[in-house]
Amino acid sequence: MYPSIRNRRLRNNPAIRDLVRETALSPNDFIVPLFIVEGTGIKEEIGAMPGYFRMSLDVLKGEVKQLWGMGLKAVLLFVKVEDSLKDNSGKEALNPDGLMQRAIKTVKEACPQMLVMTDVALDPYSSYGHDGIVANGKILNDATTAVLGEMSLSHAQAGADLVAPSDMMDGRVGVIRQALDTGGFTDTGIMSYSAKYASSFYGPFRSALDSAPVAEKDIPNDKKTYQMDPGNRLEAIRETTLDIEEGADIVMVKPGLCYLDIVRDLREAFDVPIAVYQVSGEYAMLKAAAAKGWLDEEAVMMEQLLSIKRAGADLIATYFAREAAKLLG
Ligand code: PBG
Repeated sequence: MYPSIRNRRLRNNPAIRDLVRETALSPNDFIVPLFIVEGTGIKEEIGAMPGYFRMSLDVLKGEVKQLWGMGLKAVLLFVKVEDSLKDNSGKEALNPDGLMQRAIKTVKEACPQMLVMTDVALDPYSSYGHDGIVANGKILNDATTAVLGEMSLSHAQAGADLVAPSDMMDGRVGVIRQALDTGGFTDTGIMSYSAKYASSFYGPFRSALDSAPVAEKDIPNDKKTYQMDPGNRLEAIRETTLDIEEGADIVMVKPGLCYLDIVRDLREAFDVPIAVYQVSGEYAMLKAAAAKGWLDEEAVMMEQLLSIKRAGADLIATYFAREAAKLLG
């Protein structure tokens, strides 16, 4: 008790603080999301994501080499699909020469050791902007998971190391695991978005890929029938339990900062690696405040990433990966 116990002794100088710090970040913690578009020589800044770009495959080559050189060892690929290729079946998602499949090969050719993770969901391919097939005003579950299984197999055939289902259909992890195994891809992993909330923080991402749900009569223009209700905590355990039972190798909480209680819940309940996705809206908020001079961008960025890790994340998918890796040296 005071005065014999003085906690400030362990905060006296940088050396002692470094010695007793419980959590530290490393570039090994980060997954880098990348947005891919058709074309050549394209590196276009995303409106609500200053400093973040959509890039064509030729630009992607140099990008992944650079990332690898910075100690960043995993990328998570997203594609912006041309409107003419969108439909309500997800057909283009299965095209062996589709943009995603070519992007996977491009990364593996440019930088063979880079871990390639791929987004598995129908929204960038959907004329309705939904993660699944739509019929009679509903997002069909089982018809969708069948396509997601085939889509995952197609990504594995192109060279993906892990597929990352972000759709929140019931049973999709089991269907995907089976499709991969049957296709001979027993070593391809699954990072499942297990506790993905129906969040309003995904706006900048949806404009980056032009994948927002359409406003059309009788079709929901939000994702609340499949993504989780932000009010729910126990349900995150239920969702994650099922994903692990169905074969998920890594589970995920998304978004990040508003959901750190969920991250801690999962950390305490499960012993598999936990990823957190610090999403586009979180990135946009900090960039906007920093641009106004209201927040110190680097300091707040590192504090946020550290807090995500302290909450229990092993991996963080973040648009700040490059900047943070640079600072971590
Ligand atoms: C697609 C998907 C989304 C994100 C990742 N995968 C958008 C959504 O669910 O609507 C969001 C990522 C971000 O906002 O950074 N299923």
